[in-house]
Amino acid sequence: MNIHLTKSQIGLDGVPAAETVLSHVDGERGELIIAGEHVGSLAAKSSFEDVTARLWNGASKSNLSEANVRASLGTARERAFTRLDELLPATRGMGIVDGFRAAVAGLRAEHGLEHEATIVGAFPVIAGALVVIAGALVRRARGLEPVAPDPGVSHAADTLRMLHGRAPATREVTALDAYLVTVCDHGMNASTFTTRVVASTQADLFAAVTAGYCALTGPLHGGAPEPVLEMLDAIGSRERIKPWVDAALARGERLMGFGHRVYRVRDPRADVLKTAIEALASNGADLPFAGEVEAYIRAALRKKNPERPLETNVEFFTAILLDALAIPRQAFTPIFAVARAAGWTAHAREQQRTGRLIRPSSSYVGAMPKA
Ligand code: ACO
Repeated sequence: MNIHLTKSQIGLDGVPAAETVLSHVDGERGELIIAGEHVGSLAAKSSFEDVTARLWNGASKSNLSEANVRASLGTARERAFTRLDELLPATRGMGIVDGFRAAVAGLRAEHGLEHEATIVGAFPVIAGALVVIAGALVRRARGLEPVAPDPGVSHAADTLRMLHGRAPATREVTALDAYLVTVCDHGMNASTFTTRVVASTQADLFAAVTAGYCALTGPLHGGAPEPVLEMLDAIGSRERIKPWVDAALARGERLMGFGHRVYRVRDPRADVLKTAIEALASNGADLPFAGEVEAYIRAALRKKNPERPLETNVEFFTAILLDALAIPRQAFTPIFAVARAAGWTAHAREQQRTGRLIRPSSSYVGAMPKA
């Protein structure tokens, strides 16, 4: 009784909560392995459909090919589009991040489709519809309708089509596909843990993934990229980097896109995304400016917390990449979920198949009943 836990205990730092074949994060070496491959080589050569097939095969001992997944996601996107009339009313009056949560909570089993595909296929359709509706509200335009999916193109290409209402350029598809692969799974992060906790009760995948999305939305996790862009906007120019960053740190603020619970060196996903942005440079990303901000912040964090390495995390370059793809910043977290849904569905399935009810304990530090 009344045993106070340390900060690390409260955060479950370094506590393994599952055995998984899906992904592995080595925080000391700065390595991420997804389904047996380093994230860098995966992003360079694999499509989102290929990596999703690997994750689902690992979780369910199935033998799906990239083509199988591409076909089932195409069908799932079409099905989701036909259900938008049911899903969208629950989002009325909400912003994109919250509206996405409400619509995802309305998903349910589709005849003849695995739950995994139903969920992963629906995500970009919902995100695309919410972005179109938000655009219509902002521009006071009438008649802007969600764009119907095209099951014949890749998940990345269709996501961009539905967001922008035009056929994307090949280099844009390549960049988004690299992003989707890079962030599709990442060990026992907060949203994946949440998903596994729900799945551990033998609740279904729809419940587990909805919970995972809720955990993703916070700024300490997948809600960080929008504030990263706000920070870059607020800094605005090279001369203002030092005064802005110094003042924010003096106020005790956390700088978005930096620091990680597990990585003690640079997040390996940051460089994978940086490479993807470089290939998109003509889309107007100001990488040199972002690079100067990054370098100054890293040095300032080293000075402030010499004992605790705080390096660039994936969200810094996510913000720049998604912005260069002209995705509205309010949709960054849902687009993260489009990718992470592959990992969540796989983890939920693996948990149901191999795991055990997750039920930790707590240390009671409250009042005791009078004798
Ligand atoms: N900026 C400034 N200081 C920071 C930052 C940061 N980004 N991150 C950590 N610190 C400081 C903390 O304030 C703390 O200082 P203190 O000891 O003086 O109180 C110290 O570094 C240690 O931090 P921890 O509490 O051990 O960090 P934790 O492991 O809980 O945090 C986290 C990890 C949440 C990612 C944190 O670094 C953070 O808030 N970063 C900013 C938000 C962000 O980028 N989120 C996206 C993460 S990536 C992802 O989830 C996809």
